Amino acid sequence: MTAVGIDAIEIWTGKLTLNLPETFAPVKGEDPAKYTKGLGLETSSFPDVYEDIVTMGANAAKRLMDRRGLTPDDIGRIDVATESAFDNSKPVSTYIAGCLEQTYEGDFRHANKGERKFACVAGTQSIDDAYNWIKAGRNRGRAALVIATDTALYARGDPGEATQGAGAVAMLIDEEPSVVELSTEQGYGSMDETDFLKPNQQFPSVDGKRSMQVYLARMREALEDYESVAGRTKVEDFEYIPFHTPFPGMVRKAGLLGYRHMIRDTEKEDELADRIGRQPREADFDSWDDYEEAIRAYMDDLKETDEYREWYGRVIDPTLSLARRVGNWYTGSVHVARTSALKHAYETGKAMTGKQLLVGSYGSGAQAEIHAETVREGWRDEIEALNVDEQLAGRYDLDFEEYEQVHDAHNHEKDVELEEFTQPANEFVFTGWGRMNERK
Ligand code: CAA
Repeated sequence: MTAVGIDAIEIWTGKLTLNLPETFAPVKGEDPAKYTKGLGLETSSFPDVYEDIVTMGANAAKRLMDRRGLTPDDIGRIDVATESAFDNSKPVSTYIAGCLEQTYEGDFRHANKGERKFACVAGTQSIDDAYNWIKAGRNRGRAALVIATDTALYARGDPGEATQGAGAVAMLIDEEPSVVELSTEQGYGSMDETDFLKPNQQFPSVDGKRSMQVYLARMREALEDYESVAGRTKVEDFEYIPFHTPFPGMVRKAGLLGYRHMIRDTEKEDELADRIGRQPREADFDSWDDYEEAIRAYMDDLKETDEYREWYGRVIDPTLSLARRVGNWYTGSVHVARTSALKHAYETGKAMTGKQLLVGSYGSGAQAEIHAETVREGWRDEIEALNVDEQLAGRYDLDFEEYEQVHDAHNHEKDVELEEFTQPANEFVFTGWGRMNERK
């Protein structure tokens, strides 16, 4: 069977940055350690005034196409995943295709374009759509371009303001891919939830604490559902486990949940039993509350064991290095986590070809999806070609007043004229509503 998966990846970060412990926390009267230790964040990316979801997505896609020597004729499908769309009719992919067509010979008339919406999980859903299109043999030899692009901004004063970010990830989905092959098996945990939503409003209404519980509940269900088709998962099976990362502190909780789930009824659980006991079994408790309390106590002990700490440092922590510096990119977030993991492998000289990743995507509202990926031989060249460190180092560091101005400039309900902080260089820029984005 032909392998289908991610053939190329490019990342485009917002050009501005906000230092959370040094710039944001003091003004909010908060301990910087809430950011560095609690949420696990150092800085977040913000879009400059000439950037938006279209320009960031088009710039990521342009880098990818140029690097791989592609023209519009090589691409049969453009799917954009976003929860920051500004148009309820025309998909963002048409705006991005319009940008790209300014710079290539030929056009995307032949390409099927769409926009996927299910909060942050939509990036992974778009990859699925492309995978199914190729597997069904409808692609006529062409690849699919999937772009996850978001400006993850919250209303000022909302607790979510601590976990903002902006950027785009472009991925080429193709046969015989260079980076990872996707597994056919998938698991889902999906339920109608109202913890995070944007009904006809720009900034989300969020019940932050509940959103974290919903994330974990749906992720657990997705893992169980995945195992029902792929068989038991074991901690030894996966080199890295990239999770959706609204902030690294959330993934600390998801990692612990995954570890506990994967070691149950295994030798690893037996090994740990001398020190922390066995995992509580629901059947041994009279009430759900007592069972939950016992599980919480077990998890508290588990996370202090050397075995868990070693596993977390090796399998989960490397997925978080970019998120610490860019914040939440919503639909792009889990794809940033995968990239962080492979970047870590590249930088530490790890052999990865043939190794497995378990990828946990999540979107509020709410749905989690789990699938496995097998790393392919070309992964190293793809990761080597990324210039993400250069992009991050080149961001303009906002002071708090500038941050507020930029936040206002990206608030569609406010009319704010603001000078740009950085100079666009050979990239697409936003030039005004109803006008075509230009390349400068
Ligand atoms: N030293 C060390 N740690 C500290 C600290 C200090 N001085 N002060 C606080 N902390 C810790 C807290 O204990 C907490 O950690 P735990 O959760 O492990 O207890 C962490 O830092 C955050 O502190 P608070 O809970 O006090 O922070 P908060 O009230 O400002 O809210 C938040 C945090 C709920 C995540 C909020 O930022 C928010 O609403 N964010 C948006 C929603 C979100 O991202 N939800 C995630 C799940 S939904 C999802 O994943 C989809 C998506 O992309 C949005």
